[in-house]
Amino acid sequence: MESRDSFSSKFGIIAAAAGSAIGLGNIWRFPYVLGENGGGAFLLIYLVFIFLIGVPVMLSELVIGRKSQRSVFGAFKVLAPDAKFFRLVGVMGVLAAFLILSFYSVVAGWTVNYTLLALGGQLSDKSPDQLSVLFEDFSGAVWRPMVYMIVFMVLTALIVAGGVKKGIEKYTKILMPVLLFIIAILCVKSITLKGAGGGLSFLFKPDFSKITADVVFEALGQAFFSLSIGMGAIATYGSYVRKKENLLNTAISVSFADTLIAVLAGVAIFPAVFAFGIKPDVGPGLVFVTLPNVFNQMVGGYFFSVAFFVLLFIAALTSSVSMLEVVVSYFSEELKMSRRGAALLGAALITVLGAVCVLVPSVFSQFNTISSDYLLPLGGVLISVFAGWVLGRKKVQEELEAHGKSVRFVGLLVIILKVFAPIAITFVFLNNLGII
Ligand code: PHE
Repeated sequence: MESRDSFSSKFGIIAAAAGSAIGLGNIWRFPYVLGENGGGAFLLIYLVFIFLIGVPVMLSELVIGRKSQRSVFGAFKVLAPDAKFFRLVGVMGVLAAFLILSFYSVVAGWTVNYTLLALGGQLSDKSPDQLSVLFEDFSGAVWRPMVYMIVFMVLTALIVAGGVKKGIEKYTKILMPVLLFIIAILCVKSITLKGAGGGLSFLFKPDFSKITADVVFEALGQAFFSLSIGMGAIATYGSYVRKKENLLNTAISVSFADTLIAVLAGVAIFPAVFAFGIKPDVGPGLVFVTLPNVFNQMVGGYFFSVAFFVLLFIAALTSSVSMLEVVVSYFSEELKMSRRGAALLGAALITVLGAVCVLVPSVFSQFNTISSDYLLPLGGVLISVFAGWVLGRKKVQEELEAHGKSVRFVGLLVIILKVFAPIAITFVFLNNLGII
């Protein structure tokens, strides 16, 4: 067997994991789900989930991946050969990768279209209403969305076929900071628009009367989706992390960066939503109908609009690569396929599902909901239970301290994994079903 590929620097692993976490989830999904779920109250619950459940689950995935040095399916087999039940996590992870990437690639295709529209100046001569119509017409069409989705999947497959270090690490290291910079500029522009205040209070002033079982449920799903946890993407990357890296720092830095970008995306979008009279709950088109209006008001708007959509596309690509990597590492390790063959087969199957998402809008939204709101949190329960109870404190601590220094808060972490996270997630599920 060829020697296992690995990330070559500390910044490399953070950039790769942040590249997975930061994507359409932050800039496309977070704002529209927040918009549909009442604003500030959603944000508050979301933040609590990120730090109390998200960081511990991400850390568990890194531990499971690095300790086992295997794909997500193999990891549970190696770490606990007798606990066969947990192989389910691997199966669910591969399934989630298929479902998520199939609708994700469609939205990523939208970013290709918007990059081309921005380049051709076709966004700049439109009123807010015309921009809404433009989005509806395009996303409801068949051929263009389909072609762009395929282009995106081909690129994803090429990068994954190239391997982890050469393919994944190289680009994310440079591009993520540039994305942050552009979003920061957009924020400044958006909050200085006339009528922006309403957007800021919508985002930051929690209206507690808006909290329902559904809002809590959506916030949990969004937290998992945004951090890329619950399906083994971070575990797979963890298997490429060298022993000398500090996993706790990695998990905290990545979660922090992910949350920062989501909140900044909110600050870039909601003031503009209110300033241009767009409804916060218009759904998946929100970012595509809002931001072009902001660009149209900016000096250098043409340049910024092109740069923004290109970067959004790249952010999507670094996330999709981590999803396909889950499938490819599974195919190549368990089914003994070559990396290239696995990337080709995985991407081809996902492209077929992606085409179904383009043709049947209800499949698109079902995949979106089932994967993030159900599969990922369920995977999260199993991963926490596995790390807390099956691996146990001693092994978790050993792996967290493998870089040679002692790590604090391990006791607290293990309590969260054993008790708090599984109970909290189960409670949110049952509450949503109306059982408690
Ligand atoms: N976290 C990614 C995003 O925010 C999506 C993703 C989910 C990636 C699950 C990998 C695994 O866009």
